[in-house]
Amino acid sequence: MNNGNSRSQLGAEGLIFLIGYMGCGKSTKAKQLGQRLACPVIDLDAEIVNKSGKTIAEFFEAFGENSFRSYESEMLKNFDYPQKCVVATGGGLPCFFDNMDWMNEHGETIYLKMEPSALVSRLHNRQKRPLIKDLDDDQLLEFIKEKLQEREPFYNQAKIIIDAFDLDAEKLEEALRK
Ligand code: S3P
Repeated sequence: MNNGNSRSQLGAEGLIFLIGYMGCGKSTKAKQLGQRLACPVIDLDAEIVNKSGKTIAEFFEAFGENSFRSYESEMLKNFDYPQKCVVATGGGLPCFFDNMDWMNEHGETIYLKMEPSALVSRLHNRQKRPLIKDLDDDQLLEFIKEKLQEREPFYNQAKIIIDAFDLDAEKLEEALRK
């Protein structure tokens, strides 16, 4: 679904940002799409880990969420992107500062949308995700529902919104070309 927000001129040629909740498959889909488009893939969480020398969990532990959000926004805006690449973003990134506007101005944005129950079943390994590491399945479902209400107003600003359940990279590429 193209949500009618203005499309940039970049098509599949510039920066392509994948956004969405934890567990929706941004990193995996970014790798697959990068292969199809024969372009590099940048994972901003991995870049934060590289640059800070801390895992995301360690970063939260040491400096707190506010510092993480500033660091993540700086990383988004100052990264030296190749001319054409697919960028996997952290689940919270679009919802802080003007990050969503910035991505829409600099490339294509694709929201990988998924139901809360599907997200729960995909979020087995929670230890590396500080916001949800102590929740059981029931608590996680409630948490995701609540968070999605806060976050969807941002996610829904993506130029392309696509159902991420059973999504293959071919469909994703097609959505970009429409
Ligand atoms: C977060 C999502 C994580 C990571 C951090 C915070 C969030 O990324 O940036 O743990 O606020 O939703 P993934 O969506 O890649 O798990």
